[in-house]
Amino acid sequence: MSVERTFSIIKPDATSRNLTGAVNAVIEKSGLRIVAQKRVRWTPAQAEAFYAEHKARPFFGELVKFMISAPIVVQVLEGEDAIAKYREVMGATDPKEAKDGTIRKLFALSKGENSSHGSDSAQAAEREIAMNFSLHEIVG
Ligand code: RTP
Ligand code: MG
Repeated sequence: MSVERTFSIIKPDATSRNLTGAVNAVIEKSGLRIVAQKRVRWTPAQAEAFYAEHKARPFFGELVKFMISAPIVVQVLEGEDAIAKYREVMGATDPKEAKDGTIRKLFALSKGENSSHGSDSAQAAEREIAMNFSLHEIVG
């Protein structure tokens, strides 16, 4: 294990229900540290570029529409084994399958409107952080 950084999004369903602080409380309680954070609203082009790997999937159009429907909070999280750890803290994509105490079990509305995103690999984390933050915005 080593100290890693991962990329996180508090998604529109959570920001619109005023749950930014509640999600951050779960993140911080897990031991992960929020080392960068900003509230933004994506354009369609930004959402399409971010989720390009899902372009051929049937839910792509719905996903892009959802991600631009309200502001999001983009974050960099730091800690031991942060990438895998944050996937555990978020829980399964579908809240019906997520374990108790996870962000998605606590807050998600559905498989699509599922409150949070976390990078799924070291390569994804590097790409997603670079797409959303400049180096001077990340203060560990
Ligand atoms: P994420 O990338 O957002 O962290 O979520 P994930 O790895 O758990 O799930 P992924 O398969 O990468 O899907 C990306 C996001 O697309 C939406 N989705 N909707 N309606 C559906 O069947 C469906 N499947 C996926 C979710 O918002 C999911 O997080
Ligand atoms: Mg994913």
